[in-house]
Order: sequence, then C-alpha cells, then structure tokens
Amino acid sequence: MAQGGDNWWRDGIFYQIYPRSFQDSDGDGVGDLAGILRRLPYVKSLGVDAIWLSPIFPSPMADFGYDISDYTGIDPLFGTMEDFDALLAAAHDNGLKLILDLVPNHTSSQHPWFVESRSSRDNPKRDWYVWRDPAADGGVPNNWLSEFGGSAWQFDETTGQYYYHAFLAEQPDLNWRNPDVRAAIYDAMRFWLEKGVDGFRVDVIWHLIKDAEFRDNPPNPHYVEGRPPNERILTQYSTDQPEVHDVIAEMRRVTDAYRDRVLIGEIYLPLHRLMAYYGNDLTGAQMPFNFALLSTFWSARSIETIVEDYEKALPKGAWPNWVLGNHDRPRVASRIGPEQARVAAMLLLTLRGTPTLYYGDEIGMHQLAIAPEDVRDPFEKNVPGIGVGRDGCRTPMQWDASPAGGFSGVRPWLPLPEDHIHWNVANLEADSRSILSLYRRLIALRKASPALVAGDYHPIAAQGDLLVYRREAEGTAMIIVLNLGPDPIAVTTSAIRFGSEILLSTFLDREGERLEGVLDLRGNEGVVVMQPHI
Ligand code: GLC
Ligand code: MG
Repeated sequence: MAQGGDNWWRDGIFYQIYPRSFQDSDGDGVGDLAGILRRLPYVKSLGVDAIWLSPIFPSPMADFGYDISDYTGIDPLFGTMEDFDALLAAAHDNGLKLILDLVPNHTSSQHPWFVESRSSRDNPKRDWYVWRDPAADGGVPNNWLSEFGGSAWQFDETTGQYYYHAFLAEQPDLNWRNPDVRAAIYDAMRFWLEKGVDGFRVDVIWHLIKDAEFRDNPPNPHYVEGRPPNERILTQYSTDQPEVHDVIAEMRRVTDAYRDRVLIGEIYLPLHRLMAYYGNDLTGAQMPFNFALLSTFWSARSIETIVEDYEKALPKGAWPNWVLGNHDRPRVASRIGPEQARVAAMLLLTLRGTPTLYYGDEIGMHQLAIAPEDVRDPFEKNVPGIGVGRDGCRTPMQWDASPAGGFSGVRPWLPLPEDHIHWNVANLEADSRSILSLYRRLIALRKASPALVAGDYHPIAAQGDLLVYRREAEGTAMIIVLNLGPDPIAVTTSAIRFGSEILLSTFLDREGERLEGVLDLRGNEGVVVMQPHI
C-alpha cells in the first residue's frame, strides 16, 4: 500500500501527466497507460509524491477526453482496465499516490445518458441535462456563451428544445440540480475509490450549478478586443452559484468515506470567490487550485502581492497550493523565458502550499508554435488565430534526442520542437546543472526540510526585482531570495545574517557558501539560504 498518513496531500508534491503525451507504448503515436507504467521510475526519481492523470475514460475525444462517454471504463486508446490496475498497483508499490480527473459538469454527447435524454421530452433522463424552450422569437433561451466560442445553446431538432453546453456542443452539461445525476456521478467516484484511487481533480467545479432562472449574463465592461469572444459577457449566472457549495460538500463526503483521499477543484475565479471553495468549515475541496501564478505579470512586486493576498485570504485551517502550468495554459518557460523558469521552479517549491508540477516543465519544455495543419485543439479550431490554442503546451514528453523524442516509434499526434535535441530527459540528466537537476535538487531540499514543507511564511520587504521571504519551522529558518530580473543585485537585508549558508542556487554552483551579511545575486538567480541557529 501507499505510504503517508492524513497529511500526504499537504506535504506532498503533485505531478500532472497528460496521458496522450507522456509515453506511447503501442506505436499509435498517442501516449497510453502502459507507457506511463514504463516511465514510472522517472516520475519516482523526480521525488514527487502523487500523480494526477488527465482523463483516461472512454471518449469520442472531441475535447481529448474531457468529453466522457463512460465514467467507469478506460478508453482503448489508453489501454485496458488491466493496464490501469497495473499502473495503480505499481504507483502504490513505489509510494506514489494516483489521482484521476473527474469531469462531472458535462458528458460526451455520445454518453448513453445523453442519447436517452435527447430521445424524447418525457424520457426519464430528460432532466439529467439542461433543456430549455426556445425564446419567444425561436432563438436561443438566453445570452450565455460557450467557453469555446459561439452560443452555449444547441438546438435539438428531435424535441424542439435547446440544450446547454458550457464548452463544445459535443459536451452537454449535466443538470446538477437533479439528485439522480449526483447519485450517478458519486457511484462513478466510488468505483474508482474502491479500486484505491487516491482522489480526484474535479474539472470546472465552479460550473456545476447554473442560475435556477437562467437569467441573461451581464456584459463585461472590461472586455479587451482580441480576447476570446466568450469574454464579452460575464458568467454571473452561468457559473459560481451559491448552491454549488452544497454539491461540493456532498462530493467531499463521498471521498471522505474512504481513508486519506483528496478532492482538488479546478477553479478560475478571483481570490475572494476562490476561497469559498474550501467550503463552510472546510467541508469543500481540500485544494481549490490556486492559478494566480499562471497569468500574473512576472515581476517581484506582483508576485509578492499575489502571495500575500492569497495567504491573508485563506480561511482558518485551509491549506494553500500553487501551480505554474497545466494542459490549458501556455508553458511557463515561454511565458517568462528559460532563465526565469528556473527562478519560478524555486518559487513553486519553496512557497507554503502544495505544488503541482506539469509534466515537461521540469525539462524546460516551451510552448510550441503549431502550424495550422497540425492544430488539434477544438478551442483553436473554433476561435482561430488569437492564441487560445492549447496544443502547444500538450506536445509529447521529450525523453531523448531521437526524432519522436523517445515518446513514440511513429509520428506523434502532436509535433515536437526541433530543440528537443537539447531539452530532453537523457541530455539534461547527464548535466548536473540543468533545469532537470535543479528540479530534483529543489524537490529533495523541500522534502528534507520541515521549514519548507510546513513552515510559516513571512514576507521580507524588498525592492525592484527582488522577492524575499522566510519559511520557518522547528527552530530552522530558510530565507528565499529571488532575482526576477536580468541584472545582478547586492542584497543587504538584515535577514541575511552573518554566517548564513546557501543551501541551493538556481545555478547549482554555490551550495555551502557562507555569507557575511551580504548576498551577491546574479541576474535571474534565486537562492535558498539557511539562517544560522542562534
Ligand atoms: C477544463 C479542462 C479543459 C477542458 C475543459 C472542458 O478546463 O482543464 O482541458 O477543455 O475543462 O472540460
Ligand atoms: Mg499509444
């Protein structure tokens, strides 16, 4: 069995795998479960504690698995249930937790539930989805927009009503006000929990409940031309409704009926709304994903503010978490550049709160520009040319310098960048100062240090490109000093006491250095310093 007590998800580090792109084992150019099993030693070698798999369930793949047609199966593209069981067992044997992606907001339009629901107005599953009459003029029931472009309402000829889809028309939204829908999804959760799965990352959890009266959404006064069209209106009535918290509390009771499981929520909301997802008395998600670092302007002062505001807003007893990348957002190495990507790694792994790493960020993978003929993402296909495409952050893991990067023996479903000849695991493993080596060292340092895992967070005043904070526990204090700019800085804060010792630099070349009250930081350098015991 897997190790770890109640606190594993607080003390641990999560690693997100996008299964299509990690390792192909059967030569179809698409990653699969047997491939992940084969690469488990690598994941283990990073020092992470838990794996989150993006969806692996049967799916027509209109949204690459986020359109599920069977909640308790495995898509043949990814393998069989035996492959899954083998992966889960191997993960646990290696002390790794495994969490799955739960996509409860919508199914595939090919899910048998929807096939039934759309068949007639009096079908018992009619109310499992969100059906509305046309407006008086025959048009859409209201002004709600799909996140992937166009109206969120699709007219269905057979029964003369519209159904609601927050994403693709191939992803009809379930009606979470219907208790039978809830029961059906909870049963699916129990199926995986019984197998020993350690929890779920819950897809678009803030979308589950919609306004009971389906009121029109207000226009967005801050819409910026060139941004995706759905941003023209706010989602005041289509998402983040107060009743959603009762649903999440119910979901949490499902996972809490099993030992040591975790519920993580995907939530893109402003800070004060996000905090509600911890639930009343922390009965909601244990970790509502904190995406603040995904879209921030990369500067010391903005990040300082983000961390402080987040720390202050946390409800009593709530545990923080941090994310630098995922399968929906541009790669961090491209957003902030390869030099700062190393500083970002140090930030992520020294802040207070559970870090979630996105596969490939540890080898500096960047956002690949995708040629029009290679585009696979439905978002980019529906809303082309304004940079919303997500293929560029979902490219195959770069294992070695071979043409398909060691990912597959054939042409992969998405291309690899030419520079994978440099940015690959084999090459970077051989280089003791590579970003991969830095990730491993940071993870090892964090895990060996109670101050970094569970210590308090104290901001330390700094200016310009400098970001400084202290983590402290059990009489040990670590000072983290990050230079978010390209120029050298002589750091003279009183926090750098005489006799302080550098434990790690992002350049991996000055560990053990004793400081005499001043710290000379190079451009784009971050260091973890241990204060002397007094
Ligand atoms: C979430 C997923 C994204 C998907 C969408 C619809 O945001 O992360 O990949 O397209 O939900 O399921
Ligand atoms: Mg395959």
